[in-house]
Amino acid sequence: MKELKSYLTSSKQRFLDELLELLRIPSVSADPKYKGDVRRMAEATAEHLRKAGVPTVEIHETAGHPIVFGEITVNPKAPTVLVYGHYDVQPPDPLDLWDSPPFEPVVKKTKTHPDGAIFARGACDDKGQFFMHVKAFEMMLGSGLLPCNVKFMIEGEEEVGSKNLEKFCRENKKKLSCNVVLISDTSVIGNDTPSLTVGLRGLCYMEVEVTGPNRDLHSGVYGGAVANPINVLCSMIASLHDAKRQVVVKGFYDDVQKVSAKERKLMNEAPFDEKVYKKDLQVAELMGEKGFTTIERTGIRPTLDVNGIWGGYTGEGAKTVLPSKAFAKISMRLVPDQDPKKIEKQFQKHFESIAPKSVKVKVTAHHGGYPVVVPTNSVEYKAAEKAMEMAYGKKPLPQRGGGSIPIVAMFDQVLGAKSVLMGFGLDSDDIHSPNEHYGLFNYYKGIETIPYFYKYYAEMKKK
Ligand code: BES
Ligand code: MN
Ligand code: MN
Repeated sequence: MKELKSYLTSSKQRFLDELLELLRIPSVSADPKYKGDVRRMAEATAEHLRKAGVPTVEIHETAGHPIVFGEITVNPKAPTVLVYGHYDVQPPDPLDLWDSPPFEPVVKKTKTHPDGAIFARGACDDKGQFFMHVKAFEMMLGSGLLPCNVKFMIEGEEEVGSKNLEKFCRENKKKLSCNVVLISDTSVIGNDTPSLTVGLRGLCYMEVEVTGPNRDLHSGVYGGAVANPINVLCSMIASLHDAKRQVVVKGFYDDVQKVSAKERKLMNEAPFDEKVYKKDLQVAELMGEKGFTTIERTGIRPTLDVNGIWGGYTGEGAKTVLPSKAFAKISMRLVPDQDPKKIEKQFQKHFESIAPKSVKVKVTAHHGGYPVVVPTNSVEYKAAEKAMEMAYGKKPLPQRGGGSIPIVAMFDQVLGAKSVLMGFGLDSDDIHSPNEHYGLFNYYKGIETIPYFYKYYAEMKKK
């Protein structure tokens, strides 16, 4: 592995420049106005794979954004690693809260990242992270040290629900056959506390529309006599949690797996400083389900949150109006064994049942995803554990992530392959927020760790 170390040392600047170039492409999947940029990003990704030495690379068209797929067989007897990542990014809004433009990356030192961090949309989620795999691959192939066959599948629709990727997987099971899926799209606890993600929450995302009178009304002439849909929506939303901050939707907790006292104890041994957490967010107090710690609230408990709410007059100054409609986007994070389809029905039924007669409600579902748990006794996990231990000098702690990657459960179901969630970001890297960044330490540490995974995985599979 000495060859790889010197390869990395002498390529650091180029590896950084190449990533910065990719970060200049605004590949926002949610907004059709960026469609051309998303395609440019797919092409740039494909080109990088080719340059790194992947012999067959194709851009697969879908009903939405393209999927970049590439593969190399070095030894038919060696195991095959499928690298999954996404080249699309979240919209950069609100733009005025960025200290530098989201698609003009800059490297700056921060308290958490004394070696410097790259500030740009997608720096951590997920361009910086999937690109580590391309660079690690380039190093391994270039040094004659690639012990596994590799397939790359980098998609452009993760941030919008991976609908077309699911179809692609179902229709291309053979092409995608592999021994393990390797993913860097999550976080580590800290740069001195490596961790492997052993769980992801599922998601059920709903939209509600509440209609009162058939048109907007003068709030003086009608106010007090006719239900205001915004007022009604707010009380309906407020009623979704009880005094213990539990979700009151009937049946919501029915399928929630009970986590053993032993596992709860273990997860709470991970370093976590509530004071630092609160200070970072500038909140005086935290809020969440009674009886659970912050780590548990984001790791093993389901939640319900309003992501957006609108209606009525929101322009400059004051307009007196009793609006006809109010809207909200409400998401629920799910844990094993909750089923997003079932939760969707339960939520719809509940929401309709709490609506007063003075309004009509319409409930629709957006994308969803199943929760995931990763066993820690598999060869896949053990190889990842050893790889991190080699690179960090410390054994990684297993940790459940609060976010969702909907396609991961599908890899298991459709491809019959377990995923290794070996992410290198920090929770404080502001993914999806203004000033998203990714530490240079994290970027290079990832590139250093990945080849160890290939090495130990190939060795352990042989035995
Ligand atoms: N990479 C994140 C998920 C993530 C982040 C998991 C940090 C664990 C720790 C991913 O890109 C993401 O943002 N997923 C979305 C879901 C998707 C359907 C929009 C999410 O979690 O909101
Ligand atoms: Mn991501
Ligand atoms: Mn994301």
